[in-house]
Amino acid sequence: NGAAAKAGKTRDILEKMDESGKNCVIFYGSQTGTAEDYASRLAKEGSSRFGLKTMTADLEEYDFENLDSFPEDKVVMFVLATYGEGEPTDNAVEFYEFISSEDVSFNQGVAASEKPLTNLKYVAFGLGNNTYEHYNSMVRNVTKFLDRLGANRIGAAGEGDDGAGTMEEDFLAWKEPMWKDLADSMDLQEREAVYEPVLEVTEKPDMDPESDDVYLGEPNKNHLEGKQKGPFNAHNPYIAPIAESKELFTVKDRNCLHMEIDISGSNLSYTTGDHIAIWPTNAGKEVDRFMNILGLSEKRHMVISVKGLDATAKIPFPSPTTYDAVVRYHMEICAPVSRQFVSALAPFSPNDNIKAEMTKIGNDKDYFHDQVAARNYNLAQLLEYLSQGQTWDKVPFTIVVEGLHKIQPRYYSISSSSLVQKNKISITAVVESVEIPGATHVLKGVTTNYLLALKQKQHGDPTPDPHGLEYAIDGPRNKYDGIHVPVHVRHSNFKLPSDPSKPIIMIGPGTGVAPFRGFVQERAKQARDGETVGKTMLFFGCRKRTEDFIYADEWEAYKNDMGDSFEMLTAFSRDGAQKVYVQHLLKQRAAEIDRLLQQKAYFYVCGDAANMAREVNTVLAQIIAEQRGISESKAEDIVKAMRNSNAYQEDVWS
Ligand code: FAD
Ligand code: 2AM
Repeated sequence: NGAAAKAGKTRDILEKMDESGKNCVIFYGSQTGTAEDYASRLAKEGSSRFGLKTMTADLEEYDFENLDSFPEDKVVMFVLATYGEGEPTDNAVEFYEFISSEDVSFNQGVAASEKPLTNLKYVAFGLGNNTYEHYNSMVRNVTKFLDRLGANRIGAAGEGDDGAGTMEEDFLAWKEPMWKDLADSMDLQEREAVYEPVLEVTEKPDMDPESDDVYLGEPNKNHLEGKQKGPFNAHNPYIAPIAESKELFTVKDRNCLHMEIDISGSNLSYTTGDHIAIWPTNAGKEVDRFMNILGLSEKRHMVISVKGLDATAKIPFPSPTTYDAVVRYHMEICAPVSRQFVSALAPFSPNDNIKAEMTKIGNDKDYFHDQVAARNYNLAQLLEYLSQGQTWDKVPFTIVVEGLHKIQPRYYSISSSSLVQKNKISITAVVESVEIPGATHVLKGVTTNYLLALKQKQHGDPTPDPHGLEYAIDGPRNKYDGIHVPVHVRHSNFKLPSDPSKPIIMIGPGTGVAPFRGFVQERAKQARDGETVGKTMLFFGCRKRTEDFIYADEWEAYKNDMGDSFEMLTAFSRDGAQKVYVQHLLKQRAAEIDRLLQQKAYFYVCGDAANMAREVNTVLAQIIAEQRGISESKAEDIVKAMRNSNAYQEDVWS
């Protein structure tokens, strides 16, 4: 890894542990930060409850040939998310290739068949989503490989299920028996957990927050110095101009945005089917709430510096900075609050009554559900609700920084074709605004409402920001000249066949149509250029023809370019008495779908992972079974084989 080598960091985990006096490392394979978050929580708990000397580590930053040299008084934990179609997360790819290799070899040269890892103690937890076929395959496979190599697993490997929405409770339920087994195995004494900070925040009242070396939200030094320097990636966003923004539809509290993001001159590139990541800013209203309840309002612009209390501590944002900048740009303050975090904060409650209530919420799963989860409270909302007018000024800022998630960029399926517009990326995003029956607040998606605010600013809308969210849309120090948004591009495997004459079938209801707009744009251009374009079938669904049928005019134009080879099928679920969904239309065209598949058509599904994608999979298997006169289980095997050969591709999210 270039970055680690450049920084002069060792890739030898044992050396790192020895030099910092650690006996427990928690490796994480994380895509969106959740696994990393769980890893830090295990690290904190291991040290505060059991006196373990813990550190977390990014799998990407170490080598693994010396796993065979781990002494028995150390333990390795793996927190591994499974991504997409059973893939490792980006940062776990190399580790996975290593550990899964047929001829994996370790430093001491003991053959894989001779169980070289018998001294290695390990613990594993996986993060997955049961709506995907390869549910938790990372943790399942990694434990299988480690067990085969003779490693000594402590407790059962845990599996968290995002699909069922039980990730947090799965994690809590897994870790208690795990700690018990680990304590037995390592002879650890449990003690009353005390908060032990890993970070130290020092206030600098004499420093001017406006001075050039204070970070006010800039992600790194180049940005601080006003120089945008590539390569732009998940650690370094490009502040891109928004060339165009509009609403594709607005019906009572439902907005759908189309944006054109200009990447010219950035050296960023994309191909059709890739994703763009948008780096959000928290709403001013939520930043204020957070500051007020924690008693930070008066000193929100105070300069603070943050350092790690030992060499392995990860500092989640650049410093010196200010309270305001940290809360606004770096922490996921709007996310649902976790039960474990409620317990951790209980000792810092403003009084004993509130402390008792916090403790009860933290200890009782059902009570937590009723009081917190069902109300969709974020941290500040919960504290406000419990506060009885008091501020929570005993809460150390470090516990908040260590306990909340780092703010995560959100991904969007690029809805343009790189063949048509190489330097402009389109996105199609529905603004998240969920009214919870009986709740006091409307749940507002962080990123999509930030994008909506950008759009409103760009257009000088007469009633901008109707919900008073007050995003700081000009960026830190009002530095973004005009309407800009921080982005990077993530390359995907969701791709058109390289031969445009191959038939394709696309299923994309709602915003699931986003990447298919790119696909169809591309094929329309190829047709205009005189290439032979194969059958291009698009199944689209929305509520009503006159309400949320997005890009309705454009599809007509593509039809003019492609003629009969393009066919669009529309399912309007709320126009008639009966709900019509894309999979119903698919069934109606069963014979043709099967014929196209026999001609090696590619089949694509994009959008809702929870129900639609699974139901489409089922219907396709039914179609194949019916049309070919074979059993459903045989047909399911055919669909699986299509997935394995990339003839069936999904780009789904929940
Ligand atoms: P967030 O703030 O992240 O909130 C999202 C949801 O989380 C809320 O609606 C709510 O259900 C829940 N939530 C948030 N806070 C709380 C709380 N306090 N309590 C309880 N629940 C809470 N979206 C598109 O519109 N178009 C696309 O093309 C697209 N492509 C994608 C491609 C990929 C590969 C992936 C992974 C996702 C894609 N998405 C797409 C989804 C997108 O990334 C975002 O998840 C979505 O826009 C919501 O982001 P947000 O920041 O506005 O909402
Ligand atoms: P509905 O909301 O009226 O039920 C885009 O969101 C479209 O997808 C809407 O028309 C929505 O219909 C529909 N939809 C909802 N659930 C679906 C499912 N399980 N399969 C396919 N389409 C679905």
